[in-house]
Amino acid sequence: MSDVAIALALHVLAIVLWIGGVGFATLALLPAVRRLSDLEQRLAIFEAAERRFAPVARGAILLAGATGFYMVVRLDAWRWFGVPAMWWMSAMVAVWVLFVILLFVLEPFFLHRAFLTHARVAPDASFRNAERLHWVLLIASLVTILGAVAGSHGLMLFR
Ligand code: HEM
Repeated sequence: MSDVAIALALHVLAIVLWIGGVGFATLALLPAVRRLSDLEQRLAIFEAAERRFAPVARGAILLAGATGFYMVVRLDAWRWFGVPAMWWMSAMVAVWVLFVILLFVLEPFFLHRAFLTHARVAPDASFRNAERLHWVLLIASLVTILGAVAGSHGLMLFR
């Protein structure tokens, strides 16, 4: 079972790095950038931070998915997805799929360009929307983390 413990440790490490980054962007970077008066400076900082963190987040998402899938196979945990008390299993996969679609499909092929174009026309609204989207993602991720840790250590909200 030590392979499962290693997978779990890597899983949690990946989650900390990835969702920690989402937390930093939501609570510090975006509000700070939104308050800058110079639009070019706003876009430059936003772009530079995003360019650096996007590959880290993508790597962490792949690691979290691979280790999560590995644990499901090793623990033969497929039926957990049908147990209401283990709602956090489905929440983990839902959050993961959402981020995969955002970071591997929408962001590189559409969102990035759309944001830059829109930010030049309506900067305040664009940055506000980006912040709102980050808040939704952060809250969904934190609720999932709370559920996963409490649930896998015996807290049952439903039977
Ligand atoms: C394909 C996606 C994922 C799969 C298949 C998956 C699967 C798993 C499995 C099987 C466990 C072990 C549960 C146990 O031993 O009782 C686990 C633990 C955990 N997962 Fe995921 N996971 C995925 C994505 C995520 C995401 C996106 C998050 C956070 C937003 C997350 C957060 C956690 C946490 C915090 C634990 C540790 C629970 C603990 O032992 O304290 N997982 N995951």
